[in-house]
Amino acid sequence: MKQLTRTLSWSVCNLEELSEQDLKLVNAAKQATSGSWSPYSKFKVGAALLLDDGTIVTGSNQENAAYPSGLCAERTALFSAGHMYPGKAVTALAIAARNDNGYTAQPITPCGACRQVLAETETRGGRPIRYILYGTQGTMIIDGGTDAILPFCFGADSMK
Ligand code: THU
Repeated sequence: MKQLTRTLSWSVCNLEELSEQDLKLVNAAKQATSGSWSPYSKFKVGAALLLDDGTIVTGSNQENAAYPSGLCAERTALFSAGHMYPGKAVTALAIAARNDNGYTAQPITPCGACRQVLAETETRGGRPIRYILYGTQGTMIIDGGTDAILPFCFGADSMK
């Protein structure tokens, strides 16, 4: 039997420690929460994508009375970027979320379905995506690309 192990590392920063580019993306994600349509969960999520030419594309969660018809902030932004800027690689994603009490203390991470879309977006772009996840008690930065948050991922290569 062969035992294999993998490790994951990330950093937690104060806003003052973020680079100008990362802070800009976090602010765009916070701003994007204003576009959320979330009368059911009352949880407003904002996502901001950085493209390889510096363009920022934002999205927010869009809910529906028929619950599964809604979409997360991340996929709203990802599909919008895929449509508006085909061929441009996504290099970073910032996420912020707030409820009636304000922004979450801990960062939120993308749900499983969004991770799956992120994995394919990353493959298409050919560049690792940097994750900048905002929380009032610290912003989490994950640099390992999407494999770090979705190991053993199914993708187009799995069908070969
Ligand atoms: N949501 C997101 O938009 N992104 C996430 O990463 C987690 C959850 C949304 C979906 C739903 O509108 C609300 O948050 C509660 O789950």
